Amino acid sequence: MRATTETLLGGRHILRCVHCGTEQRAADPLFQCEQCQELLEARYPEWTPLKPRETQQLKRTWRERRMSNAPEDVSGVWRYRELLPVIAPQHIVTLKEGNTPVWPLRQASRRLGLENLRVKHQGMNPSGSFKDTGMSVALSMARVEGFEVVCCASTGNTSASMAAYAAHAGMKSIVLLPAGYVTAGKLAQALEFGSTVLQLRTDFDGCLRLLYDVVRRFRAYLLNSVNPWRLEGQKTLAFELLDQLDWQALDHVIVPGGNLGNSSALGKGMIELLELGIIDRLPKISIIQAAGANPLVRTMRENGGRELIPVEAETRATAIRIGNPASWRKAVAVLKRTGGACEDVTEDEIRLAKSELGAEGIGCEPASATTLAGLKKLVRSGFVKADESVVLILTGNMLKDADYLRQGDKQQLIGPMEADAATVIRALEKLYAAN
Ligand code: F0G
Repeated sequence: MRATTETLLGGRHILRCVHCGTEQRAADPLFQCEQCQELLEARYPEWTPLKPRETQQLKRTWRERRMSNAPEDVSGVWRYRELLPVIAPQHIVTLKEGNTPVWPLRQASRRLGLENLRVKHQGMNPSGSFKDTGMSVALSMARVEGFEVVCCASTGNTSASMAAYAAHAGMKSIVLLPAGYVTAGKLAQALEFGSTVLQLRTDFDGCLRLLYDVVRRFRAYLLNSVNPWRLEGQKTLAFELLDQLDWQALDHVIVPGGNLGNSSALGKGMIELLELGIIDRLPKISIIQAAGANPLVRTMRENGGRELIPVEAETRATAIRIGNPASWRKAVAVLKRTGGACEDVTEDEIRLAKSELGAEGIGCEPASATTLAGLKKLVRSGFVKADESVVLILTGNMLKDADYLRQGDKQQLIGPMEADAATVIRALEKLYAAN
């Protein structure tokens, strides 16, 4: 039965332009449409809605694979391989990505008057961010296509992830990053995993533009989220999330928005589940940006998503310090199709939300905390209602950006002081008397 299901759903895949709809078999090095240079997306033209019995069988197969120790079953990406391009197990590059936890947010639920608020923490992936799910698929594709060198522009997490997967596959990797705007932790990962790192005097948008010129002339496989296979991996977030919720319908999923690959991928995953008849309604997918890096918010507000309004990005949430997002068209389509909202949040709102998550024992990097900050606004505006179920997608591990915390006013940090018991006890007594 397993083999039948794979044939049924695996099928042929094509790349289709998200703007003009042109279909092409092979991708050019930039993953651009040969007609209009817009982004491509993977499509599976042979897919048709499943019969209820087939849906049940598929869900059972996915569940059974959790009992297996085969790498392609342990991976929270390849476990759902019926809905991915077919890659032979020996070519799959996996660090057992996915399998990230879903946790309730009890204190925030109470404060916001919500009955059912949870987070899914993609920062618990092997390299500490959601990028790993997409990297597993795209890097496997690079290997199938015979590349030995891979590359990306990055605000830090894509490079950390790419470096890890490339090293694991025995490939070389090149990173272009905005000098001075990548956290020490993320940079350390890229270096540890052997990437060649070029720090450029520009922002992320400038790095990505420059990388396009590089891959036109230098044979290296582009691993930014303009690569449609990245999004195929990242769409499994939708499958794993619903699987973990026993396929109960969700009302809202809230994600941070930077280059807008992740929101696009999540939407694609949900829409595919709907079109295959595996779920019967879509959650609203809402995208939250930092107020200093809010091109999508402005685009939706000022022209309803017709034309991108790029901005000069500035935010301490460096992961999403992006003013000219590549996947904006895909993200607009997801907002429109799912009826989601698009909001921005200030630096203070991000900092507060991050410490509120921390107070529940859930660490994340600043970009991820935009989701809780955004949710507060959406509850206030009545967009999210008390009895609706909500999942926030936390995208990066807290340890990615420890400096952010150190620059905050964490009053629990005392000293340096003399290392003797009397001094320590005096300090504790003073602190507890004050509180
Ligand atoms: N959260 C984190 C922690 C990120 O690293 C990123 C993007 C995002 C959210 C936004 O996701 O770009 O798909 O909308 N980081 C990229 C990088 C740009 O280079 O690591 P997006």
